[in-house]
Amino acid sequence: MKDFLDELGIKEVNSGACHGEWIENPTGGELVSSSPADQQPIAKVLQASPEEYDAVVSRAQDVFLEWRMLPAPKRGEIVRLLGNKFREHKEALGRLISYEMGKILTEGEGEVQEMIDIADYAVGLSRQLYGFTMASERPGHRMYDQYHPLGTIGIITAFNFPGAVWAWNAMIAAVCGDTMIWKPSSLTPLTAIASQNIVNEVMKDTPYAGVFGLVVGKGSTIGQRMLDDKRLPMISATGSCVMGEKVAIACAKRYASTILELGGNNAVIVMDDANVEMALRAVAFGAVGTAGQRCTSTRRLLLQKGIASSLTEKLVKAYGSVSIGDPLDKSVLMGPLVSEEAVEDYTKALEIIKEQGGEILCGGKAIDGPGHFVEPTIVKARRDMQIVQDETFAPILYVLEFDSRDEAIDIHNDVPQGLSSSIFTTNLLTAETFLSARGSDCGIANVNIGTSGAEIGGAFGGEKETGGGREAGSDSWKAYMRQQTNTINWSSDLPLAQGVKFDV
Ligand code: UN1
Repeated sequence: MKDFLDELGIKEVNSGACHGEWIENPTGGELVSSSPADQQPIAKVLQASPEEYDAVVSRAQDVFLEWRMLPAPKRGEIVRLLGNKFREHKEALGRLISYEMGKILTEGEGEVQEMIDIADYAVGLSRQLYGFTMASERPGHRMYDQYHPLGTIGIITAFNFPGAVWAWNAMIAAVCGDTMIWKPSSLTPLTAIASQNIVNEVMKDTPYAGVFGLVVGKGSTIGQRMLDDKRLPMISATGSCVMGEKVAIACAKRYASTILELGGNNAVIVMDDANVEMALRAVAFGAVGTAGQRCTSTRRLLLQKGIASSLTEKLVKAYGSVSIGDPLDKSVLMGPLVSEEAVEDYTKALEIIKEQGGEILCGGKAIDGPGHFVEPTIVKARRDMQIVQDETFAPILYVLEFDSRDEAIDIHNDVPQGLSSSIFTTNLLTAETFLSARGSDCGIANVNIGTSGAEIGGAFGGEKETGGGREAGSDSWKAYMRQQTNTINWSSDLPLAQGVKFDV
């Protein structure tokens, strides 16, 4: 057993169902979590069956009745303690994320920092949750809106941010007064169990254990049950567009709301007038970081003709110096892909790229195991190559050239996804055009910053097939609450709106 597993309470066999307390020996079948770096099993998880799932939801429903009446700043106090606990276990949890998912250690720790940041943000938010006051047309009337918690919500997360994306949802939902059920990816159940152990350390001393529920289980059984569960008024789901469509349809059928954070096909535009060194570093991090497995990863690089060949050359050179290997080794820049299937997707995409006439400038091969390693790859591509429209969750970067700013924006927006985007330019007019209504069509648009690594203070999410949801900062919290309009008559008369007369 590695020390960090002990610190996080990971045993050889772990329960995958928690409603405040861990349910002993859940009966949904065994799941083994292995490291993608060495393919060694880390620990086992006993998954939740539908019965245990129901027990977790029932408890969350019961505790909601109390939690919703606790003043939001008091809920914030509890979230503050959670943030402190994440701080205490930052190193160990960062290591586990890195070992279980494959991202390098600095990114694993960065992910825990993101969990801490969102907890801090939620604490402040707990003293806000503002509604508006509106002017009433009727004398002696006051009109305003307020926000109430939704109930028990569902959170479905992907393997690539196995802790942070849950925390974005969970910390905000908690101060909003919701209780919740978390179904993590089956590729990263131990990060979820460790996070739940941290939560339990705080919640066991409060009357509110059960606010944060966890169910590890298969998408086809437990996931589907969540989507169809009338007790969950909102589902926040992160994953592929295919998965998001299922979530959207199932939830629409039962009038539940969704936050969907799905695929990205993010591009960086580099203009001739850009600071090329800055662009180079941002593109390398965006495309190679997390082995290209962020939904914000840079997948397309659009280069203006004047700098295209020199920047491409520099980038190919930089890729040559990327050390690939054990994600826990501090000298390594790129860890493995998450699974054998991910390596197959990478290899398949490269075959299609070649068929469609793409020229591989560097990389392009899977590396022999153990471990699911591949080479980061740069492809000289054309706009009409169908594969450029797809999100392959791997470190493959398509380089395309353009003449003018407007052509760049056209190419940029010509994909089905709309998550993150970026332009490198020192020209104010070009920058503002990219951010204007005729510029990027994405939920995130940056200038002189790459596509990945967003801060939690902003709203996170995207348009088109990315699903339209927003998580984390800005006013994303509103999706976790129901809005109520209140009109109070403090006069002794009963005037009707719109001047309607109805005397009886
Ligand atoms: C994701 O890939 O699902 O902006 C989330 C970023 C991170 C979050 C990515 N802060 O790259």
